Amino acid sequence: IDVRLDLFAEIERLKKEKNAIVLAHYYQEPDIQDVADYIGDSLGLSQQAAKTDADIIVFAGVHFMAETAKILSPQKKVLLPDLKAGCSLADSAPPELFRRFKEKHPDHLVISYINCSAGVKALSDIICTSSNAEKIIESVPKDQPIIFAPDRNLGAYLARKTGRDMLLWNGACMVHEIFSLEKITKLKIRHPKAKVIAHPECEAAVLAIADYIGSTTGLLKYTLKDDAQEYIVVTETGILHQMQKENPGKTFIPAPPNNACACNDCPHMKLNTLEKLYLCMEYEEPEITMNETLRIAAKKPIERMLEISA
Ligand code: 13P
Ligand code: SF4
Repeated sequence: IDVRLDLFAEIERLKKEKNAIVLAHYYQEPDIQDVADYIGDSLGLSQQAAKTDADIIVFAGVHFMAETAKILSPQKKVLLPDLKAGCSLADSAPPELFRRFKEKHPDHLVISYINCSAGVKALSDIICTSSNAEKIIESVPKDQPIIFAPDRNLGAYLARKTGRDMLLWNGACMVHEIFSLEKITKLKIRHPKAKVIAHPECEAAVLAIADYIGSTTGLLKYTLKDDAQEYIVVTETGILHQMQKENPGKTFIPAPPNNACACNDCPHMKLNTLEKLYLCMEYEEPEITMNETLRIAAKKPIERMLEISA
């Protein structure tokens, strides 16, 4: 790639020439967020993917997100800048193991977090994201037993909030499990006025000291309406870019990980770069393709989610 290329200008040119839309998750690097047409959480991104009239969806996020876009918009070309951008949480539930687990509990309804493979989605009754999970669970009759997969932290948080006794799959996100309660507490002592805001994929002990818990969009919106001047942000660091942009006078401190060598950047999300974004638009690859039978099976529970959260 020619280092003299103005990648921002080139990406804008390619968007117009190819009628392409760039959808980016808040955990993407700042340059990618700045060039995106839409930045959002998993729910917002899937709603955009379902309604866009672009010919090409360039998904700056991880594989399960781009796959969800393809499931919803099969006639469109869906590109992912780096096909290796996976997700530790999605990987924690291999479809075949999940199918066997589900078969052991035939009376249970399966609610799966969108951070899972198409194979697991196809085995689910309803999909949810961190912003609509409570609403989705509340939409199910109280006496209906529920399996919640794959995130045990989000599942336990929802069980506490809704009072439902859900059967949880034992998966977790490698980024949200890295935070240290002890280090956040020490940071809070040094910044007594700072609010602690956390993503529900964090462990229960961390969530217990949070002033606000929500999806990435929820966390960002909270900082816009709340009047604190300082926040300790307990999620992936990418979200700080929009927080700082939209709240110029406020201070955002990334919550520290549990050891100095660890890092709260998602290694999967950060595989995408502005260069790879440009190259995938120029050459229209890597492209997400999928088996049509699997796509149709995975689409049903996503559509149920979109209907309930409309
Ligand atoms: P949301 O943006 O939907 O809160 O999801 C967070 C996440 O971990 C995505 O991988
Ligand atoms: Fe997966 Fe966690 Fe990375 Fe989100 S932050 S893509 S849940 S590993």
